[in-house]
Amino acid sequence: MNNGNLFDLSGKIALVTGASRGIGESIAKLLAQHGAHVIVSSRKIAGCQAVVDDITKAGGSAQAIACHIGEMDQIDAIFASIAEQHGKLDILVNNAAANPYFGHILDTDLSAFQKTVDVNIRGYFFMSTLGAKLMRESDGGSIVNVASINGVIPGDFQGIYSITKAAVISMTKAFAKECAPFNIRVNALLPGATDTKFASTLVNNPKILEQAMAHVPMKRVAQPDEMAGTVLYLVSDASSYTTGTAINVDGGYLIG
Ligand SMILES: NC(=O)c1ccc[n+]([C@@H]2O[C@H](COP(=O)([O-])OP(=O)(O)OC[C@H]3O[C@@H](n4cnc5c(N)ncnc54)[C@H](OP(=O)(O)O)[C@@H]3O)[C@@H](O)[C@H]2O)c1
Repeated sequence: MNNGNLFDLSGKIALVTGASRGIGESIAKLLAQHGAHVIVSSRKIAGCQAVVDDITKAGGSAQAIACHIGEMDQIDAIFASIAEQHGKLDILVNNAAANPYFGHILDTDLSAFQKTVDVNIRGYFFMSTLGAKLMRESDGGSIVNVASINGVIPGDFQGIYSITKAAVISMTKAFAKECAPFNIRVNALLPGATDTKFASTLVNNPKILEQAMAHVPMKRVAQPDEMAGTVLYLVSDASSYTTGTAINVDGGYLIG
């Protein structure tokens, strides 16, 4: 089953979305350090290529493929390309997400609603169906969905985003149940506030940050690298009997 190292990913093909920066970049680099060939993906190829260059300089194996997960034709295309080039997929990390609207839920307009749903629900869903079909053709695999603590407790003025993240937690369980017979495990990571571009309004505003940290027992935001270890665990043999779960990595926030 493994060579004594539960975290060895040698020979595995891994696709990480939203991997040009932030949490996805940290995940891509850690999976590559553990031996996976990592497909680094996001909308803009240049940022992905920079991450690939870092990985290859460090002795790892990676390639960049652009994919906007809100566009169905681009989702189809990335899996066609992986099937053609590699003939299999072992690991899928659905990490790229959209959060275009910050404001009162009653003022959510249709375009913000549509964009958030198209990327965070439809995108994660069809990335998972196509990814799992490819995994089913070989020995199975592991999918990790990056959701959010906001999927459990809605973030203030982040209504539609929080609703989509709750859907991702539900999606994780539904896929886990129906894909277990194909030896495909599906789990979720629920990050708390993490120091990335995504959370820059929070992290760069001392007053908002202080208010937010009042609810975090560890009294600090996470660094992106602090999310990657949980993903490594979830995609490796170390978690071989774990499916349908959601792991909070939130400095204790969800203790309440
Ligand atoms: N940071 C936090 O506090 C926090 C907390 C809870 C959950 N999360 C979750 O963690 C995940 C990663 O967030 P992050 O903080 O690392 O964000 P980030 O630093 O802003 O990075 C977002 C990544 O996603 C890509 N991306 C954005 N929209 C995309 C799309 N439609 N299709 C494909 N790629 C897309 C971006 O690259 P391009 O611009 O090139 O596309 C970038 O690589 C998200 O699912 C987010 O909801 C974050």
